[in-house]
Amino acid sequence: MTIRIRDTWHLPDQKQAGRRIEKHSPTIRGLNITEKQRAIGAGKTYFISTYGCQANERDSENLSGILEACGFTAAADASEADVILMNTCGIRENASNNVLGEVGSHKKHFKARPDTIIGVCGCMVQEEHFTRTLLEKYPWVHLIFGTHNFAELPAYIERAMNGEKVVEVYSREGEIYEELPEHRQGRYKGLVNIMYGCDKFCTYCIVPYTRGRQRSREADAILDEVRTLKKLGYREITLLGQNVNAYGKDLEDAMDFAGLLEETAKTGIERVRFMTSHPWDFTEEMIDVISRYDNIMPCIHLPLQSGDDEILRRMGRRYTSAEYMNLFNTIRERVPGCSISTDIIVGFPGESDEAFEHTLDVVRECRFDNAFTFIFSPRPGTPAARMEDETEEKTKKERLFRLNALWNQLALENHQKYLGQTVQVLVDGPSKKNPNVFAGYSQHGMPVNFTGENIHEGDLVDVEITDVHTFSLNGRKVGE
Ligand code: 5AD
Ligand code: SF4
Repeated sequence: MTIRIRDTWHLPDQKQAGRRIEKHSPTIRGLNITEKQRAIGAGKTYFISTYGCQANERDSENLSGILEACGFTAAADASEADVILMNTCGIRENASNNVLGEVGSHKKHFKARPDTIIGVCGCMVQEEHFTRTLLEKYPWVHLIFGTHNFAELPAYIERAMNGEKVVEVYSREGEIYEELPEHRQGRYKGLVNIMYGCDKFCTYCIVPYTRGRQRSREADAILDEVRTLKKLGYREITLLGQNVNAYGKDLEDAMDFAGLLEETAKTGIERVRFMTSHPWDFTEEMIDVISRYDNIMPCIHLPLQSGDDEILRRMGRRYTSAEYMNLFNTIRERVPGCSISTDIIVGFPGESDEAFEHTLDVVRECRFDNAFTFIFSPRPGTPAARMEDETEEKTKKERLFRLNALWNQLALENHQKYLGQTVQVLVDGPSKKNPNVFAGYSQHGMPVNFTGENIHEGDLVDVEITDVHTFSLNGRKVGE
């Protein structure tokens, strides 16, 4: 189907999104909402499905809060909701395909109840080709908006309820949101944005285009949010950013990430986590702070991406494998027992067998506690998508298989150290498979399944480890 682009629509423009011109990011405080819009959801329900990373999870908490400010309440299932929103991820093609699968599945809801507003928002729609696909092939989608204009959602919903097809995707460098309504998912674990966007422009990555320029929130706003969560009974917070170690570099006279982490620890909240770290911006001071505060969890996600220097250069990662290893070893020495997880891409354009072996060499040295491994997925508009890529798909799959087999085996060996140890677990609740078994995460970020009496969601429990697996630990509560 060819589409007629309407004058009222704003479509994404990735070239524009990749520009970095503005010096200051506007701060948007609160929600733009009229009295009428506060009542448009009365008696109606919403359903949000969230794809991708924790930044999207946090965004969905705000989207829920905004819809509730319009009077909507949460529906248990998409089939009965009046507004269905898909908050999407476009980092790899399969992420987007999963979203499109769900968009397709909502056609039946639209047919059964044509008043249903089906909306797609978030990173994927910031990519030109996906928004076009949505417009061409999924006419039951009546609301499309990107990552930059949440505060306008009440107006978009109102327009869509009046029968308009709303397409509002802006490719600007972005703003900072403060004081948006929220409906948090957890009662004990909270996500706290410290920055938005990314300026690293790794050559394979779409994020600098979909989420715009790096914009750090003011430290006071972040610390106030942490203190408020603590007062509300939250026991763990995760400081979130695409590249947390670069925190503050875009602000004048600001704290750096080491300072922010230290101030966060000083609030006394029981557990502090942070993600994601870029090795290039990781400083000695940060390691020092992590080692000095017991409430900063010994658990770091440190993407490697490749162990080959030429591939790292072509990825624009700004470090060599030796520099990565140096940082890795310093962390392991200075933060005893620190678990380190990573991200690795195989099949980047030009990755030879030898280059791939270099990645395996680094994995052998590091024995990561966890790894997220991906086959390179060309994202239209990024430099790597234009690079020549001669490696066959079959070879890439074999590399992924070998890489996974290796890190799995080493992680299992590595986790033997937990046998007989007592770890501290923040309880998420009974496990999905067995109500007598409880699940939570240790301070090292390991999923732990354990048994015991008198255990509740939100408890911090000492658990003796009796059994270890590649991805999780088993144990029993100590002291009973
Ligand atoms: N192809 C494959 N993996 C990617 N990642 C980011 N972009 C791509 C891409 N185009 C991976 C990186 C990153 C993680 C979040 O996703 O490993 O760290
Ligand atoms: Fe993407 Fe690199 Fe930024 Fe991470 S640091 S979001 S991989 S551009």
